[in-house]
Amino acid sequence: MKKIIVAGSINMDLVVRCHEIPKIGETVPGKEFLTIPGGKGANQAVAIAKLGGDCTFLGKVGKDIFGQKVLASMKESQIKIEEIKEEDCSTGVAIINVDDKGKNNIIYIEGANGKIDGPYIDSVKEVLDGASILVMQNEIPQDAINYLLKLAREKNVKTLLNPAPAREIPEEVISLIDIIVPNEYELERITGVQTQTEEGIKKAAQNLFDLGIKIIIVTLGERGVFLKTDKVEKFFTAYKAEVVDTTAAGDSFIGGFCNKFVENSDLDEAINYGQKTAAIAIGRLGAQTSIPSKEEVENFKIGG
Ligand code: RIB
Repeated sequence: MKKIIVAGSINMDLVVRCHEIPKIGETVPGKEFLTIPGGKGANQAVAIAKLGGDCTFLGKVGKDIFGQKVLASMKESQIKIEEIKEEDCSTGVAIINVDDKGKNNIIYIEGANGKIDGPYIDSVKEVLDGASILVMQNEIPQDAINYLLKLAREKNVKTLLNPAPAREIPEEVISLIDIIVPNEYELERITGVQTQTEEGIKKAAQNLFDLGIKIIIVTLGERGVFLKTDKVEKFFTAYKAEVVDTTAAGDSFIGGFCNKFVENSDLDEAINYGQKTAAIAIGRLGAQTSIPSKEEVENFKIGG
């Protein structure tokens, strides 16, 4: 089986369900409070492993109860967690408000995720040997991402960056990214090109392509997915699905995508599999709690 490495964040999500997310200065009654394992890196790894992939995780947690609980969730999903280190600080947390339409906003505190550094990467870098793909997101320090991108290139490992939350990509590493998967807002932030229209999305993607990224996949929520390579520019229609909570929709897409992509590098098939994974996940509450199994994705029927 192809080896997939995820280097990224591990959070405990503090989730508040409410009818409407309050505006600045407003107080509203909530419906429910939950603690749910999350973190973009951990969610993507859970999706990869639950869908049957061979997934090793690189990252850090704090020596606290949240760290133990998220590690337990990751272990239960069959992720290889042996390289995850504990730090004398708190585990990352994310405060997530989810409204009745399943829309959310998120504030995260990096905690131990911010301690991923060169010495840690040096202590675990052998796991990259023989890997098919290295998957990263922006909830860990940029220096760690830069270093991992360079190591992956040296070791001939493909790289996928989910630039969430969005920030500038340093010029020195941009061409080391083989596949980038932003949503439309992240794409706009990174390129400075407006992405409300299809033309805008194409222009922004071209911008990244010209900087040296060969595969650009833009997740567009209910508008589907856009793919740009040197050969194609195309939009994929989204599956119609009941929306309970969109948290980790992008993470589920990436997990599903990676699983198929490492099998045969067929982008259409991998995007389609990622879309099915995400369509199921948005029908459920929470991050790791919403991610479907391989059987569920393979039995997914269009329209739910
Ligand atoms: O992508 C969803 C994730 O973003 C949540 O699980 C939260 O932890 C934040 O990192």
